Amino acid sequence: MEEKIVSILEKYNQTHLLNYINLLTQEEVEKLKQQILRIDFEELQTLYENTKKKPKIEENKIEHINYTNKEKLSSKEKQELEDIGKTVIKNEHYAVITLAGGQGTRLGHSGPKGTFLLNTKNGPKYIFEIFIDGFKKAKNEYNIEVPWYIMTSKENHKETVEFFENNNYFGYNKNKIKFFMQNELPLLDINGKVILNKEKQIKEAANGNGGIYESFAKSGLLEEVNKKQIEWLFVNNIDNIISNFIDPLLLGLTIKEKQKIGAKSVAKTNPKEKVGVFCKINEKPKIIEYIDLAEELAEKVDENGELLYGEVNIGAYLFNISVLKDLAKIKLPYHAAFKKSAYLKENGEYIEPESPNVYKFESFIFDAFTRYNAISILRVKREEEFAPVKNKEGADSPETAVKLYNAKV
Ligand code: UD1
Repeated sequence: MEEKIVSILEKYNQTHLLNYINLLTQEEVEKLKQQILRIDFEELQTLYENTKKKPKIEENKIEHINYTNKEKLSSKEKQELEDIGKTVIKNEHYAVITLAGGQGTRLGHSGPKGTFLLNTKNGPKYIFEIFIDGFKKAKNEYNIEVPWYIMTSKENHKETVEFFENNNYFGYNKNKIKFFMQNELPLLDINGKVILNKEKQIKEAANGNGGIYESFAKSGLLEEVNKKQIEWLFVNNIDNIISNFIDPLLLGLTIKEKQKIGAKSVAKTNPKEKVGVFCKINEKPKIIEYIDLAEELAEKVDENGELLYGEVNIGAYLFNISVLKDLAKIKLPYHAAFKKSAYLKENGEYIEPESPNVYKFESFIFDAFTRYNAISILRVKREEEFAPVKNKEGADSPETAVKLYNAKV
């Protein structure tokens, strides 16, 4: 190994990599070197050190956030807002981005989550196909083809694109569907060391859905939508099979409230539901994940007995293009999760661990919200807009999601 490489490894405590060299072919060594030169070890070191500090949310800084309840709008109010939104959609100033860079690990599906097949009352349907149905419906309604941008990761990009090709884009105009890849970060073991994968390279993983801002810009798609005069981009999670992603109401509300970001929520079913909730921290809009919300806060109720932090984030966000421009260059904080990940031992043995062994670092799309003074939140009915497919069985499983889907379509 060249001195330059060795000195990087020494500086960042990664010299264990040198013990693998005998296992690698010349070509693999070359690839590994390139990887070492590319990785930002300084950043990784900071991320590792941060895993030892637990950020605490101070109760006095957290507050309830206001929202608009769709159910409480009069039909006149609803009509007025929808008319605003419909004009945007009809004038082709609207597009959808779907976050599909994650892995369906919890679901036990090995491919991209969108390629998971569900047995619906309309026959077997892939998740991506269900999304296409929504675009086709909008085409009938507005007589336009809304563009769809799909965020993939290095791990699932090729498979995702091939899936669409092989299925002929499920009959939608293929020119309207584009893919862009998010970035990755290395995984670190309990001692802050990088691990090797089966291919004998440093194991990296998608860096969280907060990667959208940087990668959408870098891919050239931000410029493309700008040229097309798209003003509003709706962003959703791949796993919600009843996502109402071409909704003039949220658009109308966000525009009327003169905000640049909108989002949808549903009411939390119970304090223990494993979801993120909207709130305000230091007077700025924020989403807190359930693991970060202390139990006593999760249980707090207002004077009407409603949960104070009861607006569930369903992964349905609306952004003005100016937001995507502003955020293209920012650095979001990383959250560390301790996970299971297979790795190569120095003796060449490939280990599938039984318990978590590595830190995975992810940034969250909504951590950018605190940069804004306010966002518009529209509370919708769960059974109409939120049926996530996350777990193999039980809550948020194919079974529960399909039940909601069948009742709706
Ligand atoms: C997410 C929300 C949570 C919300 C819940 C509703 C985040 C961080 N949390 O939880 O607040 O209550 O949905 O269902 O968003 N993804 C990528 N790249 C990545 C990681 C994830 O594109 O590197 C995508 C996934 O494919 C998925 C979405 O982001 O579409 C959210 O996935 P995940 O980060 O696993 O969060 P959830 O636990 O689903």
